[in-house]
Amino acid sequence: MNKLAFALMLGCFTHNTIAEDSHRLIETHCTACHGLSNIQRSSGYTEEDWGKLIDRMVLLPESVRNPIVAQLASHHAPNTFRAPILSEPNRHIDVEIFLTPSLGQRARDPVEGLNGEVWWVGQTGNQLGLLDSRSGEMTEYPLPSGTYPHSVTIDENGVPWFLGNRNGTIGYLDRETDQFRVYELPREHARDPHTGEFAADGRFWFTLQQSNLVSVFDPFTELFRFVELPIPSSRPYGLKIHPNGTVYVACNGSACLYEISPNDLSVNVITIPDGPMTVRRLDIDGNGDIWFVNSGQGLLGRYVPETGNITQWPTPSGADSHPYAITVYEDGIWFNESSRRPETLVRFDPKSETFESWILESASVQSGLIRHMRATQSAIWAHQTSTGALLKIQLTEANND
Ligand code: HEC
Repeated sequence: MNKLAFALMLGCFTHNTIAEDSHRLIETHCTACHGLSNIQRSSGYTEEDWGKLIDRMVLLPESVRNPIVAQLASHHAPNTFRAPILSEPNRHIDVEIFLTPSLGQRARDPVEGLNGEVWWVGQTGNQLGLLDSRSGEMTEYPLPSGTYPHSVTIDENGVPWFLGNRNGTIGYLDRETDQFRVYELPREHARDPHTGEFAADGRFWFTLQQSNLVSVFDPFTELFRFVELPIPSSRPYGLKIHPNGTVYVACNGSACLYEISPNDLSVNVITIPDGPMTVRRLDIDGNGDIWFVNSGQGLLGRYVPETGNITQWPTPSGADSHPYAITVYEDGIWFNESSRRPETLVRFDPKSETFESWILESASVQSGLIRHMRATQSAIWAHQTSTGALLKIQLTEANND
């Protein structure tokens, strides 16, 4: 073999060995919280942006981080295979980003309470978080081990209630003592508190997705009641309460919404046409109409309780956009297209029946993903789990109408 061929072979060998070593590092350090498919399915990044992204998940020594970042950039450069289709926006939004302290915690479900307090949960970090949105200061309260909270909701006194998805508990943080008051669900098969909301009478309604139940807890009597849902495996997911007290629930496992009477807990099934589909979440507008994301088919839907009419509109990015979180804010219906990279925020105008959408950036990389968003009069609060970012989104001006 001549010298040149030998040098080429050696170069190739060295290169392959480095690549294999780096791949091994990725397998070792990037699979503790999720599978490697997250990397395959990402929008790909430059070396700099891969660094920014993983620095929000895990702190690694330079000797490990740098080869990982180089390997990711060479094998997963920016791509467009999950790119969104945007609808030209007429309005401007302002997005303020708050980065949660513990890395890789799967920060989610921020909700604004009293005095500018915003609460979130770290689902895999097993904690409840408090952001003072005026000062930007953040505090994290470790939850009892094994809680793995799915969400947090505020009662009328501004007290944060968590939903213990892994250990069948709900509870609240006592602000006087900074201790948690925990209630265990009294039924063995009521396993996974998921998403909740307080009714005007003070009762706490919440879904249990895998248990196929809705529960209502009375904080005064400390008693739980359960609603057995008529469709098997319907996976009750999002829940909202109508101003008239009726409880509406989205089915993540069936083509339905449920309408539950707060008085006798009777259930009415609203069948959404042209299933099968999954419906993650819903919200209720000022007219009392129910808006839902048809996540499985990439549609936005409206159900009008007075007439029973259901109308659905295709989302800008189409059938596989997987709209996920939804909220009514100002006079529009807002949701995200969670399967797109970069992820989008979309506004639907019910009057003109038109969409406008924006690419969402989180912590200077365009990543995802939003699973819940809730609005106040002045802002939408959302999160992006990949970077542990809480997002305060505000409409700043209307241009064309
Ligand atoms: C401590 C936990 C943790 C570790 C370790 C971790 N990640 Fe993540 N990562 C997350 C969380 C949380 C998400 C959001 C997943 C979700 O919401 O489903 C995420 C999402 C991602 C995504 C998807 C981004 C998007 O939205 O398209 C990529 C890519 C990714 N991680 C790469 C990596 C790489 C590379 C490593 C190793 C260097 C790594 N992660 C290690 C917590 C972690």
